[in-house]
Amino acid sequence: MKIEEIGAIVTGGGSGLGESTVRELAGRGAKVAIFDLPNSRGAEIADELGDAVHSFPVDVTDTQSLTAGVDGARESMGSIHALINCAGVGSASRTVDKDGTPFDLDHFRRTIEINLIGTFNAIRLVASTMISNEPNTEGERGCIVNTSSVAAFEGQIGQAAYSASKGGIVGLTLPVARDLSRHGVRCCSIAPGLFATPLLAGLPAEAVDALGASIPFPPRLGKPAEYAALACHILENPMLNGETVRLDGAIRMQPR
Ligand SMILES: NC(=O)c1ccc[n+]([C@@H]2O[C@H](COP(=O)([O-])OP(=O)(O)OC[C@H]3O[C@@H](n4cnc5c(N)ncnc54)[C@H](O)[C@@H]3O)[C@@H](O)[C@H]2O)c1
Repeated sequence: MKIEEIGAIVTGGGSGLGESTVRELAGRGAKVAIFDLPNSRGAEIADELGDAVHSFPVDVTDTQSLTAGVDGARESMGSIHALINCAGVGSASRTVDKDGTPFDLDHFRRTIEINLIGTFNAIRLVASTMISNEPNTEGERGCIVNTSSVAAFEGQIGQAAYSASKGGIVGLTLPVARDLSRHGVRCCSIAPGLFATPLLAGLPAEAVDALGASIPFPPRLGKPAEYAALACHILENPMLNGETVRLDGAIRMQPR
């Protein structure tokens, strides 16, 4: 699909990888709907980027707010051709901590609820509107890009919940692509390595430098614009479907 002809929803578009994708899409002429929490920078970014970008207060774990967002996005953009799922949270806790306390199950559930179920909730609701789009010359009606993580494949110590949520995204990518193939809607995921976003901002500078240096090449953190470039390429390349693409400078995470 041609970026300048589409309307795109970006969940988590108020920060980091999602924000960069919003900027890239808008800069290339797409209409964009930012779906992010009410206290996020979504509305501020939409104001800055002008009339083609709208912001909707959406919690991806809350079906009512997602449905209202999808209705609003369809109204403001005409139709929705792309969904980029970037909403997500980090999480770190050991299965049993050093005092013998077991992992807090509510914390585990919450991570799955936001990262995995939130992603699928957006997929199912947005896909149900994409299927009534007019197909383009390739027969495409829509494209979905999810955000997994290299933690889906090499989860580190403390990442049981996060890795399970991101592994679930890898798992659903092919069956969703297969389910939606009859409608001309594609589904891919990106598994980023280590990217310079507010998610890592809590770490001390030396820790960030050490993380960057641990990447084989290029030996630095990924730039959010590099994620946005791949998300746009997936939208543009009709042959990419059902696949999770690592974007990680060849890093393979160690146990800690
Ligand atoms: N930064 C990295 O190195 C990295 C690596 C691998 C995967 N990821 C994944 O990429 C995605 C984006 O991460 P980021 O680094 O840009 O983080 P970020 O914290 O900068 O952005 C995440 C955004 O998601 C929003 N969000 C959180 N919960 C939400 C909810 N329930 N409903 C709607 N929006 C919600 C937040 O408000 C925020 O704006 C996440 O899924 C993350 O797990 C990031």
